[in-house]
Amino acid sequence: MRATTTSEVVLAIDGGTPVRDKLLPYGRQSISEDDIQAVADVLRSDWLTTGPKVAEFEEALAAWVGAKHAVAFSSGTAALHGAAFAAGLKPGDEAITSPLTFAATANCVLYQGARPVFADVSPDTLNLDPDRVAERIGTNTRAVLPVDYAGHPADLDPIVALADRHGLTVIEDASHALGAEYRGRRTGSIAHMSVFSFHPVKHLATGEGGMVTTDRADLAESLRRFRNHGISSDARQRHASGQWHYEMVALGFNYRLTDIACALGLSQMKGLEANLARRREIGARYTAAFRDLSGVVTPSVRPNVNPAWHLYPIRVNPAQLNADRAHIFRALRAENIGANVHYIPVHLHPYYRDRFGYQGGEYPVAEAAYEQLISLPMFHGMSDQDVQDVIAALTKVMSYFAR
Ligand SMILES: Cc1ncc(COP(=O)(O)O)c(C=O)c1O
Repeated sequence: MRATTTSEVVLAIDGGTPVRDKLLPYGRQSISEDDIQAVADVLRSDWLTTGPKVAEFEEALAAWVGAKHAVAFSSGTAALHGAAFAAGLKPGDEAITSPLTFAATANCVLYQGARPVFADVSPDTLNLDPDRVAERIGTNTRAVLPVDYAGHPADLDPIVALADRHGLTVIEDASHALGAEYRGRRTGSIAHMSVFSFHPVKHLATGEGGMVTTDRADLAESLRRFRNHGISSDARQRHASGQWHYEMVALGFNYRLTDIACALGLSQMKGLEANLARRREIGARYTAAFRDLSGVVTPSVRPNVNPAWHLYPIRVNPAQLNADRAHIFRALRAENIGANVHYIPVHLHPYYRDRFGYQGGEYPVAEAAYEQLISLPMFHGMSDQDVQDVIAALTKVMSYFAR
């Protein structure tokens, strides 16, 4: 036991008083009375699914990101699967992606019977490194899936240029990055297809939900069929035309997003600009508070981007601390700060290890980053006091463990 004086800080993990009484989650949705009303209105209407709200939401989101088409899906994962299908991925094909992502990014390649190939990330943004992607392109490569990690856009221009030279499709996993800007353009308007998620911790929440945006009509048509069993028309089109006849022309799924969810998404869009502004404000406050805190590396932002700040992932530098990442994580939790870790590199999950023989050491930048990452609470509904509590808790914990 360390001897303590009354002036000495006692961490909550050692029995001291936590910075907060109640756990602050790392992310959560904000639902307004208008959102509730929008959902209630749909519940009183004729269409609970495949109705007018789906097209309205798709058109609004396409216009907002600056894409010609948007196709709604029942989740971001289903949207990724649709994009992998529309890109034509099939057994024998390969698609290159980042190891530092949620497993769904790589899993969608497997759903199509193709093989995910990982390429390491850049040490600053932890996004797919275009030079490492170039090294992994082979005769079977068909697609590249950059991930906008934490809401910082991937380096899309060189990746799209590389893909165009090799005839590959770029599927951007923009699940973290609705509203992020890359060289003056919003994500969703740059890659061949971009995928968004509307899970509650994201910028816009529909419960479950996702969307693919694209400028290409052929891809949009393929996506629409895929989410509806591979059928050439949907129920509303048949209702409008009075026709019963339809044809199944490809093997698809039921990945439709309901009108209930789309009404919520449309209503949530009204707050999107304000939500992004709030996340950017919180990100700036964190960075100002932690820039000089020993043992902490704040997320880097490249000069030509404006991140959407889905996450605020710091890296803890063990060389400057008397504790490892796991202990710091537990200490923050004890202070009632809902820290998290994004992500265990995909290739290190048992499924990928068993199936592909990964042993660790294959992607040193992603693996080293993973050992140091801690995501701090970041969501637009955080109060100033919440932000202050996170700053106080991290400062308390890191100062305590500083060498
Ligand atoms: C990077 C990334 N890709 C894909 C997904 C999957 O999205 P969903 O949960 O909507 O299926 C997520 C969800 O957290 C994600 O973070």
